Amino acid sequence: MKVFVCQSCGHIEFSSAPNNCPICWKPKEQFKQNDNIFKESMEKSKEAAVKHIPSVKVNKSCGLIPENTCTDIIIRIGEVLHPMTAEHYINFIDVYQDGKYIQRLFLTPNVEPAGCIHLKNAKGKITVVESCTIHGYWMTEQSI
Ligand SMILES: [Fe+2]
Repeated sequence: MKVFVCQSCGHIEFSSAPNNCPICWKPKEQFKQNDNIFKESMEKSKEAAVKHIPSVKVNKSCGLIPENTCTDIIIRIGEVLHPMTAEHYINFIDVYQDGKYIQRLFLTPNVEPAGCIHLKNAKGKITVVESCTIHGYWMTEQSI
């Protein structure tokens, strides 16, 4: 798996670097390839996995958007909930559908390490990438 990391905002793209980062709009040159970025986090702190690997739940009946067939992707960081303190917290969660970036959730220490997105088309493979201010990048994939 090819992984390209934006050196400006930390956003990850798979397969190839985009012309512009979809988060901070910096040009392609800002992306650095690092295919081992997830492995590096895991190897640095194996015991941290339980607090960092995102879990994904699918809710097909939240009812917020009855006009369409909205499907919720509900994300929680850590089987053991990740801490959210001033120095150590999850600062963003990026979500992808079939490898294509679809939404970023920005987090601060004032919220729980969790979030929800409302999908228009509930199909394919959902990838969730999270960034911890101390422990780096972690990801999970799930077909829906
Ligand atoms: Fe952490």
